[in-house]
Amino acid sequence: MKIKVNKESVELDSQVKEKSHYVHGMFSDIAPKYDFFNDVISFGMHRGWKKFVVKKANLKEGDTALDLCTGTGDIAFKLAEKVGKTGKVNGIDFVSNMIDIANVRAKEKNPLHNVTFEVGDAMKIDFADNMFDAVTVSYGLRNVQDIPTAVKEMVRVAKPGGRIISLDLGKPKIPVYKEFYYFYFYKIMPLITSVFQGKKDAYNYLPNSLDEFPAQEGLIRIMKEAGLKDVKCYEFAGGATAIHVGIK
Ligand SMILES: C[S@@+](CC[C@H](N)C(=O)[O-])C[C@H]1O[C@@H](n2cnc3c(N)ncnc32)[C@H](O)[C@@H]1O
Repeated sequence: MKIKVNKESVELDSQVKEKSHYVHGMFSDIAPKYDFFNDVISFGMHRGWKKFVVKKANLKEGDTALDLCTGTGDIAFKLAEKVGKTGKVNGIDFVSNMIDIANVRAKEKNPLHNVTFEVGDAMKIDFADNMFDAVTVSYGLRNVQDIPTAVKEMVRVAKPGGRIISLDLGKPKIPVYKEFYYFYFYKIMPLITSVFQGKKDAYNYLPNSLDEFPAQEGLIRIMKEAGLKDVKCYEFAGGATAIHVGIK
């Protein structure tokens, strides 16, 4: 708790709490339809990008991995196939509705029974230092209250030499394409999602969340500042999606 504060830090503190509260409520509401929306919004392309994340995690039989902001567990299930029966994967999310769905999906998608889903906060990961061979997050960092804090937490729980990987939205720069993309993202997509959702607010949040996201270059800087080496950014869909990889 802050004892001595100035006006700016009070405002920042309340904004952080407000964002956390809003994001938590929104994902609790949309959890049952989340997978469907993900396919609609990305035209199913998120599946291929998630495979790329798992490839870059470079895991082998017996390894350990953590998937932050795991949602319904897509990435965790794929990591689990790589680490095999002798390995272990943990998936955490601060919305219990998401964790409940992940646990239901696990019955079909995790025949090796090597994934554990738990409610947990990306801002304060409840694992010891140096535990995981890979720590992943997909479409998560944009939603956390403070990205540098979450990235530092990912680095803390990774083993030395472990890989930190983030998949998220990017900001396209290619002229003309960029204009088309932003028209889709800011105008068309909220319309499509509000038709299915019946609640405009949740998917109006999506464009807003990109505005404040540091995206390609900003995330490279944050990862380097958190002490990661060999930080690389892979762009997809003309920069509308970015996958960042760094090594502890
Ligand atoms: C867009 S979903 C992504 C889900 C999944 N990773 C995927 O790629 O399909 C974002 C998830 O981040 C979770 N989340 C947001 N802030 C969080 C935090 N501080 N700690 C843990 N989970 C958080 C939300 O509850 C939500 O399930």
